[in-house]
Amino acid sequence: MQAINVSIDVDRRLWAQDLAGSRAHAAMLADRQIISSEAVGQILQGLDRIEAEIREGTFPFRAEFEDIHMNVEARLKELIGEAAGRLHTARSRNDQVATDFRLWVRDACDATVAMIEDLQKALLETAEAHADALMPGFTHLQPAQPVTFGHHLMAYVEMFGRDASRFSDARKRMNESPLGSAALAGSPFPIDREQTAKALGFDRPMANSLDGVSDRDFALESLAAASICAGHLSRLAEEMVIWTTPQFGFVKLSDAFSTGSSIMPQKRNPDAAELVRAKTGRINGAFVALTMVMKGLPLAYSKDMQEDKPPVFEAFDSLELALKAMAGMVRDLEPQRERMAAAAGAGFSTATDLADWLVRELNLPFREAHHVTGRAVKRAEALGVDLAQLPLQELQSLEARVTSDVYKVLTPEASCASRTSYGGTAPTQVRSQIARWKERLS
Ligand code: ARG
Repeated sequence: MQAINVSIDVDRRLWAQDLAGSRAHAAMLADRQIISSEAVGQILQGLDRIEAEIREGTFPFRAEFEDIHMNVEARLKELIGEAAGRLHTARSRNDQVATDFRLWVRDACDATVAMIEDLQKALLETAEAHADALMPGFTHLQPAQPVTFGHHLMAYVEMFGRDASRFSDARKRMNESPLGSAALAGSPFPIDREQTAKALGFDRPMANSLDGVSDRDFALESLAAASICAGHLSRLAEEMVIWTTPQFGFVKLSDAFSTGSSIMPQKRNPDAAELVRAKTGRINGAFVALTMVMKGLPLAYSKDMQEDKPPVFEAFDSLELALKAMAGMVRDLEPQRERMAAAAGAGFSTATDLADWLVRELNLPFREAHHVTGRAVKRAEALGVDLAQLPLQELQSLEARVTSDVYKVLTPEASCASRTSYGGTAPTQVRSQIARWKERLS
């Protein structure tokens, strides 16, 4: 029984939240004269001693007391005697753990937002330095149209911005206090739930005591936010893996964020990027695990819910590692600008620019321009040249009215510079988005 029931090795991480909850509860009990202020004085002193013991590493965490709540209470009894038994008046472990866990997840969301913002700053710095560095833009991982490296990185700044806002939104909904829900039905004592809610930084008490002790949607919502964020991280990580291959060679990772091979001296492996990519499995696994734990549970508390903590701790630990490693990699990476620029022009990536020119300058219908361009690409391919090197008479044989003006749009630089629509890849646009984000994150 003890082996399956015990949770102290996991929930000891809630010690600070547990002490905060107990302090708020004890102070309220004294204010409402539910227990004497003398007893509360002893309790608060005892809790201070416990905090000191935990910080010093001398606190005895004991499996026979099952979880963090009973470990603290048992130690309190050893330290202050009989008054310890009064702390649990008008409270249950059910509202206690719901409160502790909400506080923990709330802190984790705040810390995650800060880490996401740091990663965004790293991306912004790199994007700013390379706002006009050319690279191929891909669809289907086939060269599509030239873009700038700054534009590509700024796409991730947008994604991570939404990730951060998901954690902030989750925080707003979770910031209500379960404390005072007691076991499930509320309390016959004249407790003041507004007071404890306020003391713990909650916006208000939860309005239904059954809901207070039995839901974990705040944890699920945070795990969903973490899963989406991990998905974004995995995409950037995957791009790092691709970009650092000798075949691409778009980016060099620093020595600090790559590893060698024990037998192949030439290797520089992007291990950190690969591990960031892999952490997605744990994080999404955590979300699935907790949705399965919660599915079909009748109201109110069931011990199933003790299984809520391992996935949440694992997911936030993994996300922290992934966010920090990614920020480090981004800060250290060296874009290989020449190599990227050369690749930007390959694969007839300015074909759309040719078609657009035919529409704009010669008033061809786009479908017709697309057809002419397709033939130009075939011709260039046959001659083994890029579109920008295709002789004018070749183009004129396909469409007689083409002039040498067309070459102005056929380079990757011109292609990028022309895409000045809002949110487009033109360096002017990219720089204005960078400026907006810098302002927002400052
Ligand atoms: N360790 C338990 C948990 O994490 C605390 C609540 C126990 N409540 C109960 N009625 N047994 O869920």
